[in-house]
Amino acid sequence: MNETLKTLKERRSCRKYQAKQVDAAALDLILEAGTYAPTGMNRQAPVIVAVQDKQTRDKIAAMNAAVMGADTDPFYGAPTVLVVLADPAVRTYVYDGALVMGNLMNAAHAVGVDSCYIFRAKEVFATEEGKAMLRSWGIPDHYEGIGNCILGYRDEGGVKPVAPRKENYIVKV
Ligand SMILES: Cc1cc2nc3c(=O)[nH]c(=O)nc-3n(C[C@H](O)[C@H](O)[C@H](O)COP(=O)(O)O)c2cc1C
Repeated sequence: MNETLKTLKERRSCRKYQAKQVDAAALDLILEAGTYAPTGMNRQAPVIVAVQDKQTRDKIAAMNAAVMGADTDPFYGAPTVLVVLADPAVRTYVYDGALVMGNLMNAAHAVGVDSCYIFRAKEVFATEEGKAMLRSWGIPDHYEGIGNCILGYRDEGGVKPVAPRKENYIVKV
């Protein structure tokens, strides 16, 4: 099968990670792939924040868990989190950001890194604490969180077999 199609078909969400940090060269390839996602009118509304510092990663994880009213790790032990945010002033920002998320996850799979889309970035970065983090990273604090792409290497049982595709997923007319 064509390698690209194989990657798209075989990528799966991982929900249990080893502590081992993501290889630096692999991370750069993943990030670069993210920046090549298509965006409406090529406005390139999204930004990707690569978080590997444990203190920052744990802080974002705790804020994410708080949105759910939980105290578990919503990042499943993954050592790297790529936070995708986008400028809401651009009409297509949500779609743009979601496409970046897709590129990141598929690129990760292509270079042997496991990933999962973790929600609630919008709520986390709408808080005062979240806005302060954005400012400290040099990102305007009106940017909206689109998703967290967690990255790492799978631990045993972290990846479930693919679910069957629903009937009538494709409608040919
Ligand atoms: C917009 C979006 C939000 C998601 N949020 C979460 C999440 O917060 N936590 C989680 O464990 N998985 C999350 N997922 C992963 C999905 O559950 C997963 O993609 C789906 O079950 C299909 O599995 P697969 O990725 O292995 O094909 C999210 C996926 C998407 C696209």
